[in-house]
Amino acid sequence: MAQVPKVRLSGGLEICRLLNGMWQVSGAHGPVDPEKAVQAMGAYVDAGLTSFDMADIYGPAEEIFGKFNGQLKSAVAAPAVQGLTKWVPRPGPMDRKVVEKAVQRSMSRMQVERLDCLQFHWWDYQDKRYLEALGHLSDLQQDGLICELALTNFDTQRLEEIVSRGIRISSNQVQYSLIDRRPAAKMEKFCLAHDIQMLTYGTLGGGLISERYLGCREPKSQAELNTASLSKYKNMVDMWGGWALFQELLSTLNAVAQRHGCSVANVATKYVLDQPAVGGVIVGCRLGVAEHIQDNLRSCGVGLAPEDLHAIRGVLDRARDLLLAVGDCGDEYRK
Ligand SMILES: NC(=O)c1ccc[n+]([C@@H]2O[C@H](COP(=O)([O-])OP(=O)(O)OC[C@H]3O[C@@H](n4cnc5c(N)ncnc54)[C@H](OP(=O)(O)O)[C@@H]3O)[C@@H](O)[C@H]2O)c1
Repeated sequence: MAQVPKVRLSGGLEICRLLNGMWQVSGAHGPVDPEKAVQAMGAYVDAGLTSFDMADIYGPAEEIFGKFNGQLKSAVAAPAVQGLTKWVPRPGPMDRKVVEKAVQRSMSRMQVERLDCLQFHWWDYQDKRYLEALGHLSDLQQDGLICELALTNFDTQRLEEIVSRGIRISSNQVQYSLIDRRPAAKMEKFCLAHDIQMLTYGTLGGGLISERYLGCREPKSQAELNTASLSKYKNMVDMWGGWALFQELLSTLNAVAQRHGCSVANVATKYVLDQPAVGGVIVGCRLGVAEHIQDNLRSCGVGLAPEDLHAIRGVLDRARDLLLAVGDCGDEYRK
């Protein structure tokens, strides 16, 4: 089994620094055959990529994980896998019953006795019931139903507010890439001071940050931006500096990749993995449709040199500041 670097979250759970993202089985990235997806997961685990990220709202993702996990449990000497899920409720009552029901639903779908990690999302900061929900989640953690209590898409101000109430948060899942470096502005410092790991998404821009788009004319139509990720991150590229600057970034990354004998995706992943407070990078996997296991395994071993970083910075310095244009982490979900 390949040596994939690990990180231990503050509640004790050890996860891979490269995680497998399952939004890609939700249906928003093209049709998915759940049986094929379950079968495809074995190759990730065999490669040492044992940590899977999903959500209650990613279509059949939790069930797919559950089926795979059920098969593993009945096998002899099966490797341990980690299932990180999210709870993304619509704003509404957040009493203990509501919260417990959501946790039990994920446990049952994922076929686990307790959740390895529950990442909580909230749509509207005006509605302060996120604090009530987190209070109950923290109690359920004390009761042993959740190992790591975590967040996704919370900004630094609310993360501070939550932590100041004595709620122990292990990680915050945020968008972080060469295009979107907002987490470095504020979030990073707070996370470092409070032993909170950032788990990142969008690090490959849904596939835009790869050789596939080097030298390509700008994709604009829905037919070209045919997954939810491609259209989401193409919007970020537009806000960041546009297609011409993005092409300069891709060719710079390609030159770095060629120096290291690796891929553009490897450079983009390693750049983010090397940032302070980043615990892991989640790479989206169209399970059973398109796999990049062997290439992505190389990411962790790339050693970016000062001249590589200098060349990359030369392009990034000419981009717009997304903190000013969009706001802090997760603000794009609240506008
Ligand atoms: N918390 C949140 O709000 C949130 C939001 C978005 C995502 N996420 C999480 O983050 C995960 C990552 O998803 P994402 O949407 O951000 O996408 P991403 O990881 O930036 O991009 C994933 C896509 O990149 C391509 N790719 C992967 N490895 C590659 C390689 N080595 N070379 C070339 N291309 C490669 C694949 O495209 P093809 O399949 O076309 O080959 C893959 O589908 C999701 O599954 C989810 O778990 C969380």
